[in-house]
Amino acid sequence: MFPQSRGTFSRQAHCDLPEGTIEEEFARQGFFGPASHLYHAHAPTEWLRIEGPLRPRAYDLRQVSAADAGDPAAPVAPVLGNQDVRISVSRRRQAMPHCYRNADCDLIYFVHRGAGTLLTDFGVLAYQQGDYLVLPRGTTHRFFPAGEESFLLVIASAEMPQLPGADRMGQHSPFDRAVLRLPELPLPGTPPNANSEWEMVIEREGQWTRVFYPFDPLDTVGWKGDLSAFALNVSDIRPVTSGRFHLPPSVHTTLKTSGFVLCTFAPRRVEGIDDPGAVRLPFYHRNIDYDEVLFYHAGTFMSRAGIDAGMMTWHPQGIHHGPQPKAIERDRQGTKTHHDEVAVMIDALRPLHPLEAAGPSEIVEYAESWMPHIDD
Ligand SMILES: [Fe+2]
Repeated sequence: MFPQSRGTFSRQAHCDLPEGTIEEEFARQGFFGPASHLYHAHAPTEWLRIEGPLRPRAYDLRQVSAADAGDPAAPVAPVLGNQDVRISVSRRRQAMPHCYRNADCDLIYFVHRGAGTLLTDFGVLAYQQGDYLVLPRGTTHRFFPAGEESFLLVIASAEMPQLPGADRMGQHSPFDRAVLRLPELPLPGTPPNANSEWEMVIEREGQWTRVFYPFDPLDTVGWKGDLSAFALNVSDIRPVTSGRFHLPPSVHTTLKTSGFVLCTFAPRRVEGIDDPGAVRLPFYHRNIDYDEVLFYHAGTFMSRAGIDAGMMTWHPQGIHHGPQPKAIERDRQGTKTHHDEVAVMIDALRPLHPLEAAGPSEIVEYAESWMPHIDD
């Protein structure tokens, strides 16, 4: 019996919207399930006020007081999480005094700022800004930052993240797997601690166990197989775009599990630029099946005004989001042909919850940023 339609509507999604209407995509399973487009008289984000816990939230992660900034032996600072994924911040300035192994989660470190060396069971990975460092659960590793600080977004996954498979875009889009970097041998060896021992921290069910060795446990001399740590830099991602249609964010998928999808918004041509009737900014939606998290790494983000690199937004399921009035105005005035933004998106299937480091960094007035009368 579907598709059906009533009233005033557009022939195609995101194109040639009826005069004076605001389009919302009301959809299941992200952008893949059944969907209808609702044509509203008002933007659904133009609320007067919100009472209750559900609201769009934003955090300035530059304000997170990550303990590992001062104490190199301290853990990372958790910000948001659920049973599938946990997002934390690390502001490491000095080398880890111990090896670390997470027995609960696969780890994705996104390097927001800084560079250095990561020693792993598989060898040495030199890292730089814009790198994803992907470590299978159980990988022993140790960070050696170079320079002032390594500001890392740490994404811990209960399930092994998978690279996107070949689909209609072919196997070399949005990046050729040949750009993935593997750790290199030999491992350099590290000096013992003051007790002439090497310490290994193993995290299991959130608790730390310390194992002490009379030798450096990062002593792999060779390996073979189909499981390894690897690195991917955002500059090697070549986004799929359309000049005549606004594509869903899932075209920017970098890694996925059954509990979340990680997408990278990399510099690209403005969508809809070849057709004046095509929507150029993201459509409004109430993200029914996913909590949406965006970490802003660099550039000017297309649909958010007043958001800088190092900030993170969280749009929980059920309440609307879409472009803010300032971003719409910027788009109308602009003759912008390219977006220079780099952002990491994590869409979580189960509701996320703020964790201990989130509170102090929250930008409390964020939910008001859609109100047309607010001047940011
Ligand atoms: Fe969204």
